[in-house]
Amino acid sequence: MDEAAQDGAPVGELTLRTLAMPADVNVNGDIFGGWVLSQMDIAGGIVAGSRARGRVATVAIDAMKFIRPVHVGDVLCIYARVERVGRTSMGIKIEAWVLRDRLGARMKVTEANFTFVAIDQAGRPRPVDV
Ligand SMILES: CC(C)(COP(=O)(O)OP(=O)(O)OC[C@H]1O[C@@H](n2cnc3c(N)ncnc32)[C@H](O)[C@@H]1OP(=O)(O)O)[C@@H](O)C(=O)NCCC(=O)NCCS
Repeated sequence: MDEAAQDGAPVGELTLRTLAMPADVNVNGDIFGGWVLSQMDIAGGIVAGSRARGRVATVAIDAMKFIRPVHVGDVLCIYARVERVGRTSMGIKIEAWVLRDRLGARMKVTEANFTFVAIDQAGRPRPVDV
């Protein structure tokens, strides 16, 4: 079995697709982990904001795992799923996958559990379901 096949299928809804660009590389020539994390945060915010019907803020990122590097020219695909809904918080499972060099093998590069909190206009926590 090749390494991409071992990953199985992505979990969650395809929420964001973008291209890894030369401006986002680190000193090793791979894509900077902070850029990948920021794409995951954006995707999580879309899903959490939709579930909470309004503003949300990231309060925690747990179990962040960088599995493989991302290269310039890879298509980054972010999958997100609401795993838990609390009173004001939501747990969102987020996976980042790439299509190597736009068209190549699909493989998982990063995963994490994000926690978002629904907030009101003043930035205070508000119930997700009212
Ligand atoms: C999000 C924020 C408004 C929450 O305020 P708070 O005073 O921590 O609120 P609470 O203690 O009432 O917690 C709110 C919810 O978040 C959860 N929570 C708080 N801190 C958490 C943590 N570190 N991990 C997981 N859940 C957390 C609580 O369990 C609670 O969930 P529930 O209502 O579903 O039971 C506040 O922490 C904040 O503004 N943080 C900065 C957010 C931000 O700027 N994010 C972008 C990063 S650059």
